[in-house]
Amino acid sequence: MRVAVLKERRGGETRVAATPETAKKLIGLGNTIAVETGAGLSAGIPDAAYAEAGAEIAADAAAALSGAGIVLKVRAPLAEGEGEVDELSLIPAGALLIGTLEGMTSPDRVKAYAGRGIEAAAMEMLPRITRAQSMDILSSQANLAGYRAVIEGAAAFDRGFPMLMTAAGTIPAANVFVMGAGVAGLQAIATARRLGGRVSATDVRPAAKEEIKSLGATFVGYEDEESKAAQTAGGYAKQLSAEFYAKQAEVVAAHIAKQDVVVTTALVQGRKAPILVTEAMVAAMKPGSVIVDIAADAGGNVALTRPGEMVVTANGVKILGWHNWPGRIAAAASSLYARNLLTFLTTFWDKDASAPKLPEEDEIVRGVLLTRGGRTVHPQLQAA
Ligand code: NAI
Repeated sequence: MRVAVLKERRGGETRVAATPETAKKLIGLGNTIAVETGAGLSAGIPDAAYAEAGAEIAADAAAALSGAGIVLKVRAPLAEGEGEVDELSLIPAGALLIGTLEGMTSPDRVKAYAGRGIEAAAMEMLPRITRAQSMDILSSQANLAGYRAVIEGAAAFDRGFPMLMTAAGTIPAANVFVMGAGVAGLQAIATARRLGGRVSATDVRPAAKEEIKSLGATFVGYEDEESKAAQTAGGYAKQLSAEFYAKQAEVVAAHIAKQDVVVTTALVQGRKAPILVTEAMVAAMKPGSVIVDIAADAGGNVALTRPGEMVVTANGVKILGWHNWPGRIAAAASSLYARNLLTFLTTFWDKDASAPKLPEEDEIVRGVLLTRGGRTVHPQLQAA
């Protein structure tokens, strides 16, 4: 089978969906691989590295996609009018497209996949079950985002994280507060601790409290009967009442005023990110403090976040709201993302047919498969 790997064209996307390592393994399964020229450059992978792994370097998207049975992408392919190339129209009918395909957020795109006869697997919709962990792009990318956010927060903070004892005097350790202790938040806690910060964290899910403590951070938060049931069966945070959020804000406000660096990571599946840091909380922070908002692309956890920008407030607080945090550590993010896709393919590889076989009764396939045979097949999208 021919596997196509495209250059990502969506604004600011630096990652790539296959690396020389995964290309080699896909070739080992009996495939040929066509990588569009320049696809890996922004992740530090030159064409020559793919060629050395046995891939063919295609001159453009059309050449890479010609005859492809599998298409690997980071972001949804560009449709007509979205950029210089209409990638979607170049994908052969019947091909399996794997990537972050905006399955839940963009019904028009799903219709277009069906209309083009594409078999679309939206990896962001993977069920969070143990068997799927090694294919979980949300986890692999959130982990790196959490790491990178702390590194960038530390760089923007002009005092330093560890306690520095020098002949000229002592600089105290930075107080770091992580809001939301899911995959990104736990990595942020661990990274901030490694850098020598004094770390505390909060979350609404009861299970998170123990995880925060097990990483050596202090738990700060409000708990009541409502928060005891704040976790869905899938492990995500539920949307909670306005009263709960008000009480949580009260506890957090006093704490935030004493922090040097705040890292926010809170998400509620399928919704805009909750505002956890209000304008008044930012106004109460010390000059020189830094807030890193990993949730910026989902609207942000901070009232003053401007997605894609750094804001410096009147009282001298920096708020980093960059887009695409995993894309800011593109080589590592691509390497893990590419392995997630490879594991998905190898898990469902039919050796006799030398092709992937995605049975709809499988829980993972049911979770990710949007379209097949010209129809929308995902249970959640059909009910909608
Ligand atoms: P996420 O990215 O959806 O949210 C980040 C964090 O924000 C979560 O911990 C959430 O509880 C928290 N949050 C939401 N609203 C908040 C608020 N108002 N205040 C403070 N915190 C708030 O979550 P993520 O990182 O994707 O992980 C969610 C859960 O799924 C975790 O328990 C994780 O361990 C679990 N998981 C399980 C996997 C598996 O079994 N395959 C794979 C990945 C994650």
